[in-house]
Amino acid sequence: VDPTLDLFEEINRLKKEKNAIILAHYYQEPDIQDIADYIGDSLGLSREAANTDADIIVFAGVHFMAETAKMLSPQKKVLLPDLKAGCSLADSAPAPLFKKFLEKYPDHVVVSYVNCSAELKTLTDICCTSTNAVDVINSIPLDQKIIFAPDKNLGAYLIKKTGRDMVLWNGACMVHEIFSNEKITKLMLRHPHAEFIAHPECEEHILAKASYIGSTTGLLKYTQKSPAKEFIVATEAGILHQMQKASPDKVFIPAPPENNCACNECPYMRLNTLEKLYLCMKHELPEIILPDWVIQQGRVCIDRMLEISQ
Ligand code: 13P
Ligand code: SF4
Repeated sequence: VDPTLDLFEEINRLKKEKNAIILAHYYQEPDIQDIADYIGDSLGLSREAANTDADIIVFAGVHFMAETAKMLSPQKKVLLPDLKAGCSLADSAPAPLFKKFLEKYPDHVVVSYVNCSAELKTLTDICCTSTNAVDVINSIPLDQKIIFAPDKNLGAYLIKKTGRDMVLWNGACMVHEIFSNEKITKLMLRHPHAEFIAHPECEEHILAKASYIGSTTGLLKYTQKSPAKEFIVATEAGILHQMQKASPDKVFIPAPPENNCACNECPYMRLNTLEKLYLCMKHELPEIILPDWVIQQGRVCIDRMLEISQ
């Protein structure tokens, strides 16, 4: 791409020309968030994908999110700037293995976190996101046994929160598993007035320290309404961009990871760049293509989720 090109201008031009909408997750790099038509959490993005009247959905997020958008709007063209933008959590539950696992629990209802492949969704009864997971679990009759996949950390949090005993699949998000308890403790001591807040994909010992636990939207809203002036935030650092924009007078500190060489940026989310966004809009590639049976069977669990969390 010509380095003198004004990518913001070009992307805005292509948006109008092609009647395209850019949906971006909070974990995208700040430039992408700034050019997006809608920025949100997984639930908000699904709703937006289901309701848009644009011809093209450009999904600035990861593969499972773009697949969900395709399932909800199959007649639309759904583009993802980089097809390699996957998800360690979705990868931790390959559909063939999960299918075998389900054979051991034939009388269980299957609840899957939206962070899973489209194929896994075809094996799922009800989907959920971190925003509506508690409501989804609570909507299931008490005598009904439940399997929750793929995130064992969110699953453990939900067991605690709802009091329901669930069989958990052993998956996790690589970004939310790297936080250091010890370093967070030290940071909290150095910032005694800071509130520690966390995403429920974090491990239990990290969540135990948090004064608020919630989805990305939940965390963002919490920082706006809390009287605290300082926050230590245990989730992907991309969300800090919107937190800082919404509360310019407050201080946001990303929670430190265990390993000094690591950072809490999702390597998959960060594969998308402004340049790739521009190229994918220009060439209308890469496009998300799903077999018809996957769209039909996979969207049932998403529709159920959207009905529950109206
Ligand atoms: P939410 O934005 O729905 O909280 O999801 C977080 C996440 O891990 C997305 O990959
Ligand atoms: Fe997947 Fe974790 Fe990245 Fe979200 S932050 S896309 S759950 S690897």
